[in-house]
Amino acid sequence: MYSIFFDKIKFIFFQNIAKVLLTVPHLSNALNIHKSEIDFIKTNGYLRKKSFLCSKVLNEIDLELSKAISKVLKNNKNEIEAKPGNLRVKRLQYFSPILRKFSRNTTFNFLSFSFYGLFKKPNILFTYTTDGKHSSELIDGGCSDQFAFEPHVDSFRNYLKILLLLEDVEVENGPTYIVPSSMNDPILLSNYKDVIINKSNTIVDEKKSEILVNKYGKVPLTGKAGDIIIINTKNLHWAGDFISGERKILWLYY
Ligand SMILES: [Fe+2]
Repeated sequence: MYSIFFDKIKFIFFQNIAKVLLTVPHLSNALNIHKSEIDFIKTNGYLRKKSFLCSKVLNEIDLELSKAISKVLKNNKNEIEAKPGNLRVKRLQYFSPILRKFSRNTTFNFLSFSFYGLFKKPNILFTYTTDGKHSSELIDGGCSDQFAFEPHVDSFRNYLKILLLLEDVEVENGPTYIVPSSMNDPILLSNYKDVIINKSNTIVDEKKSEILVNKYGKVPLTGKAGDIIIINTKNLHWAGDFISGERKILWLYY
């Protein structure tokens, strides 16, 4: 209980400091983030930023990913999780200096400060999901269940994740869904206690999830290639149904 309370206070404190910093002339432009956006994340637990990555950067990431993934496939198979139509490659920061450079991105560093009061370095992950109808050297088969498809919370603490959309993400190709503001609902307290005890993310049962969705609604975190999505995964969230298409996302876990 103490940890949950302390983390809430710390989060409010650093988000307010971040907002004050953004009143410094030109800083907001330099950091590419605005006070209202910090407020939006604090209240809703997510934010979309459109066209954050230009096509040149997207191409650079694509090329670099192919190299980094083949390196991982050859030497570090324990960094890979796979099932039909789903691939997840972890800790890519150790395999690619180009991908590692996202650790130095000023917007991301500022967001990390606003969450934790620290400039944390992220774990970098890549996920590829497909219906199996697209030819791919990465993975066999088509996706029926995505990783993390059950409604869950990742932590009792505020947990910053940034999704870099490498392809368009629509309702058809399984976006992450979030229940905005759900982290402030007392109904999740017992789940946060479970997270503390089990030291892992915790599935939230169907009845509770339904209550929260009815109360706050649910938002599919869709977007176009080049958009980024900032999410606090202390809120209830899950990977949506994958109907068709394919999807590539680079994830920064702070
Ligand atoms: Fe999650």
